[in-house]
Amino acid sequence: MNANLDAYWMPFTANRQFKNNPRMLASAEGMYYVTPDGRRVLDATSGLWCCNAGHGRKEIAGAIARQAAEMDYAPSYQMGHPLAFELAERLAELTPGDLNHVFFTNSGSEAIDTAMKLALAYHHSRGEARGLFVGREKGYHGTGFGGMSVGGMPNNKKQFGKGVPAVHLPHTMRPDMRFSRGLPDQGAELADALDSIVAEHGAENIAAVVVERVPGSAGVIIPPRNYLRRLRDNCDKHGLLLIFDEVITGFGRLGSTFAGYEFDVVPDIMTIAKGVTNGAVPMGAAIASGQIHYSIVSGPDQIELFHGYTYSGHPLAAAAAMATLDVYRDEAVFDNVRSLRDTFEDCAHELTNCRNVIDIRNYGFMAAVELAPDAEAPGRRGMEVLNKCFFDEDLMVRMSADIIAIAPPLVINEEQIRHVFKTLGNVINTVD
Ligand SMILES: Cc1ncc(COP(=O)(O)O)c(C=O)c1O
Repeated sequence: MNANLDAYWMPFTANRQFKNNPRMLASAEGMYYVTPDGRRVLDATSGLWCCNAGHGRKEIAGAIARQAAEMDYAPSYQMGHPLAFELAERLAELTPGDLNHVFFTNSGSEAIDTAMKLALAYHHSRGEARGLFVGREKGYHGTGFGGMSVGGMPNNKKQFGKGVPAVHLPHTMRPDMRFSRGLPDQGAELADALDSIVAEHGAENIAAVVVERVPGSAGVIIPPRNYLRRLRDNCDKHGLLLIFDEVITGFGRLGSTFAGYEFDVVPDIMTIAKGVTNGAVPMGAAIASGQIHYSIVSGPDQIELFHGYTYSGHPLAAAAAMATLDVYRDEAVFDNVRSLRDTFEDCAHELTNCRNVIDIRNYGFMAAVELAPDAEAPGRRGMEVLNKCFFDEDLMVRMSADIIAIAPPLVINEEQIRHVFKTLGNVINTVD
């Protein structure tokens, strides 16, 4: 192992493998990363589902630099700065329904943990002691104790004890849905599994149901048509709060500002992160409905919620977010998804007959190409595809075991979309 790489303990990475053959990125502009040795690598993953407007946006960099010079930091407890209030108001205008109360965090993980704490505080304010969460198998909500527990990826929990009490809905990936284009037509009834969870645990014990709109990290799992509506209806039937995690799907990934518009279903609390600043400065938020907010803040006129972060609404993040929202609006970035999502879908499904491909899933600018795992070495094929794409083809894709995820910056053009999938198909065909 290269000694000077030793000190940095990398997250979610096979450290020894990486350090033996590092995939380093040194700069970025538009659709491309540039490696330290000068190779331009086409980014088919928006960094990590973050850089929706592409890289190196001068407007965003300028706003961050100006803000750093004007005021580097302001405490968020007992003090405020105008930009955070302006941003909250702007986000409230963009979110669906009456999701109008924005609690800033610094990541998606913190956003989910905050959303879960808001649910608990809401029940507390009504004199109820509900403590059980309902997540979903294969869900990913970051790595805080709340998100880890409600998430449904066993590897993310196995080293860390019991976490927060949580039970799980079944995931929505079934063999009869394979190679669906967009939303699978079958499977909405999987949302009815909530009925048996309620029968077993009692609605009066359940704090909230927490799911991603479209699970990304576990490999782009597209919800069946009407599934999310049915989940909302079932929550209403049982009097349960619903939290939708839009950390990946927010800010245009599916073609609308939020998936709330795409699927016409509004939760009680939603979470955002990543695309809110185009990935340029860490920021997230839990955004709550009027009812939740009112119930928590209508007590005595003192600190209403004993929760927060030193960097909540950080000036640099707020400046980055304001500039990012300007770019999205002024360049109609999300319209590009709507114009090209059919092409994106067609190109993805052209890989149907590639070697070892057992499923292709897509919606908006999200797609997964799933390979049959090698029985002797699960994950090997995914890793080989990632490495060959990166080192031999100057293409950055993402892998989750043997699932290859594609989620490019939303400013990608048609030629680049064709190139991404054609290159990926060629590489897959070389992996035995
Ligand atoms: C749906 C979802 N929620 C939460 C998170 C966690 O976000 P962060 O890594 O910023 O903590 C992620 C990260 O990929 C995510 O995909």
